[in-house]
Amino acid sequence: MKTILTGDRPTGHLHLGHYVGSLKNRVELQNEDKYNMYVMIADAQALTDNFDNPKKVRENVLNVALDYLSVGIDPKKVNIFIQSEVSELTELTFYYMNLVTLSRLERNPTVKNEIKQKGFEKSIPVGFLTYPVSQTADITAFKANLIPVGNDQLPMIEQANEIVSSFNRIYNKEVLVKSEALLPKNELSQRLPGLDGKAKMSKSLGNCIYLCDNSEDVYKKVMSMYTDPDHIKVDDPGKVDGNVVFMYLDVFSNDELIKKYSDFNSLQEMKEKYTQGGLGDVVIKKVLYNILEEVLSPIREKRKYYEENIDKVKEILKEGTINARKVASNTLKEVKEAIGINYFE
Ligand code: TRP
Repeated sequence: MKTILTGDRPTGHLHLGHYVGSLKNRVELQNEDKYNMYVMIADAQALTDNFDNPKKVRENVLNVALDYLSVGIDPKKVNIFIQSEVSELTELTFYYMNLVTLSRLERNPTVKNEIKQKGFEKSIPVGFLTYPVSQTADITAFKANLIPVGNDQLPMIEQANEIVSSFNRIYNKEVLVKSEALLPKNELSQRLPGLDGKAKMSKSLGNCIYLCDNSEDVYKKVMSMYTDPDHIKVDDPGKVDGNVVFMYLDVFSNDELIKKYSDFNSLQEMKEKYTQGGLGDVVIKKVLYNILEEVLSPIREKRKYYEENIDKVKEILKEGTINARKVASNTLKEVKEAIGINYFE
């Protein structure tokens, strides 16, 4: 049985971009019943760039757990755990650090980008620069084979595999396992734009629809979406390309839903009408709103249940973490044996 591991940094509520880009896929993988699955709430990694705001990280651990459960990640099938509670991961990180050079860390393109974004150029916290090593510990501790992530995480997996090779070679034992990325099948959903159409949905840009938004919020947000600035009167011809409403419909709708919530038989037909002129923005936005509500209502309902039973959520996290620790501790034991620092055995 192959092992799958993914994780999210708990720095805020998860949004529709997370849903189509990864959460939905995790639920599908879990339902295939052929993987050993771990989902990690990466609070320790979140601290590497939020060390001065532990409250934010701490509070979002439960928020992210609620997001997971409300989209249908099933704790009977998936081990959900909290990274910082698995201290073996930190220990593994320490041994792996010997196998990476500073210049290799500085070359990681994702980290490079983040350093720029976060204004760390002048003075990079060592914890932040080395988080790919800690991520290697996350992956290898569970001997994960498949890592469902977005493109931005490819350098992490590449770096992890380099560490795995070095370790197995230097300590002359095939202890660690290489992993590969499981990229999303649907390229479209990887790049769900924010409401403003400028960039991907991102908390810091304030252009997100959150999985926990209520109907009213969703309505307001859909009504504020960027469409075509030259589509002023209903009869004006409109542009579909770069129109956020249509980009979302591309991802979330199908002909059945289009028929249910509009006067059209297909999205194609709706796009043609919009392009010709005669279809107003408010109309297409209402269609999208209704379709998003079909996605979000069941999620909200599940969330409500878990919010009212928050002790259950904590229990799920605790159990998942206990299981994760057992596995990680086994790997740590093998790692120490390979290095030969298992003195008392
Ligand atoms: N770096 C990932 C992110 O920012 C989170 C993460 C931490 C992760 N450890 C992981 C993802 C291990 C996959 C595997 O989204």
